[in-house]
Amino acid sequence: MNLKEISRNIFKKRSIDELLQTSDRSELKKTLNVFDLIVIGIGAVVGTGIFAIIGAAITGNAESSGAGHAIVISMVLAAIACVVPALCYSEIASMIPVAGSAYTYTYATMGEFMAWMVGWILMLEYAIGNITVASAWSGYFMQFLKGFKDCLPDFIVNIPIWLRYDYRAIYSMCDKYGWDVHDKIPFLFNHIPVAVNLPAAVIVLILTILLVRGVKESTRVASVMVGVNMFMILSFIIMGSHYVKPENWQPFLPAVDPVGGILMGTFTIFFAYIGFDAISTAAEETEKPQRDLPVAILGTLVICTILYVSVALVLTGIVPIDKIDVTAPIAHAMSFVGKDWFAGLISVGALCALTTVLLVYQLGTTRILYAISRDRFLPRSWRMIHKKFKTPHVMTWISGVVVIVCGLFMDLKISADLCNYGTFTSFVIICLAVLILRETEPDKKRPFKVPLCPYLPIAGILICLILIFFSLNTLKTSSNYFIIWMIAGLLIYALYGYHQKRIGERGRVIKRG
Ligand code: ALA
Repeated sequence: MNLKEISRNIFKKRSIDELLQTSDRSELKKTLNVFDLIVIGIGAVVGTGIFAIIGAAITGNAESSGAGHAIVISMVLAAIACVVPALCYSEIASMIPVAGSAYTYTYATMGEFMAWMVGWILMLEYAIGNITVASAWSGYFMQFLKGFKDCLPDFIVNIPIWLRYDYRAIYSMCDKYGWDVHDKIPFLFNHIPVAVNLPAAVIVLILTILLVRGVKESTRVASVMVGVNMFMILSFIIMGSHYVKPENWQPFLPAVDPVGGILMGTFTIFFAYIGFDAISTAAEETEKPQRDLPVAILGTLVICTILYVSVALVLTGIVPIDKIDVTAPIAHAMSFVGKDWFAGLISVGALCALTTVLLVYQLGTTRILYAISRDRFLPRSWRMIHKKFKTPHVMTWISGVVVIVCGLFMDLKISADLCNYGTFTSFVIICLAVLILRETEPDKKRPFKVPLCPYLPIAGILICLILIFFSLNTLKTSSNYFIIWMIAGLLIYALYGYHQKRIGERGRVIKRG
């Protein structure tokens, strides 16, 4: 095979008309309206970011400084970083209302190699991002159990630390508090630390079983949980505002390195906004996708920004920066003002929010893997449908096991950073896809158009690239993981996906012949 042929293959695109035909043939029922889409959006967006990561974004960690009170600026900047990609998602999703999100759009604009890489990167956003969510879920669950310390046995309320955290988190706690790690974790053969985040593994296992049994039931439960978590967040804002002391907001900018602190805060809190693109994965099930998708995507972003900024103002107005808790900051703020009962209720809201995000992301992982394997870049056997439940059970189990296994050696912050890298990269691709389609398909009907094109998409690409490079430079551990992930993706395509795709194409030609 010569170089010319290889390069023709890796840039081979799927035409928009072919994609639209697939969507027309889709057997999915078109029942969703704007309200349903916003519920899906909020279900996917509101979770770990606002209930847990906001603490680290304010205070920083060993590798980077935090934004302090200026977290409000970081939040607005993170929202701005999302607005342009959101507009771009809206333009493409309304033009090609087909499932598969950025993976599908990239296939239509940049060809098969880029599509595979985007699919692989989306796994960082969905599967690896879920490690963060599961680990935050575990933190809130333990807090929730403490509320029942009088009626539950001690071994449940106070599970040993090596059954609640991954080994990295325990090592950093030992560093911080001067503990001897051998007192905290058992070691296998004297060398291998044994530490598992058991509650996180169990919740992922339960959701995997639920998803194998059927999607409908799971999404119905999810919409109830979105209601509960919205109620809790609004109650926190209303009730907490009575305890705000404006003098707590001083000094507003971080004393050391304000620009670095705000940029790092923006990168970290960006996690809280991830997920609105999940709306575009429901394109094929939407009644009027051209009109409803852009409204839902932008609506979700606006609602979340208003909620987040209000929560940040209340949180930093109640608790002095050095006392903000990094595992469950919102619930802790209520305990801080002596409202333990309300802190308990916040934990329930947080558990609902995190469970919904876990569910939406596990579902998203499976859908994207399904689309990738349908295109033959992954083994066909993974697409096997369960005889009784009619769900892609092998794929669902693979997604679940990846989250559980990777969760054994990745902590919450590293997996959140990786998820951020993945999402920023997919945002760059989406902005690029809009620019390409404006050139290659100028006459295609666009029910929604990004204003000020090409300036806005170019600005979106630049903002995302600045944040990626700034963080790659600062966050050494996660940037190394990110580079390893990209190389692994490249190797899988070169050694497996590329050849399987060609075998598939030859098979189709023989069949037609
Ligand atoms: N935005 C989602 C969350 O905060 C990923 O959990």
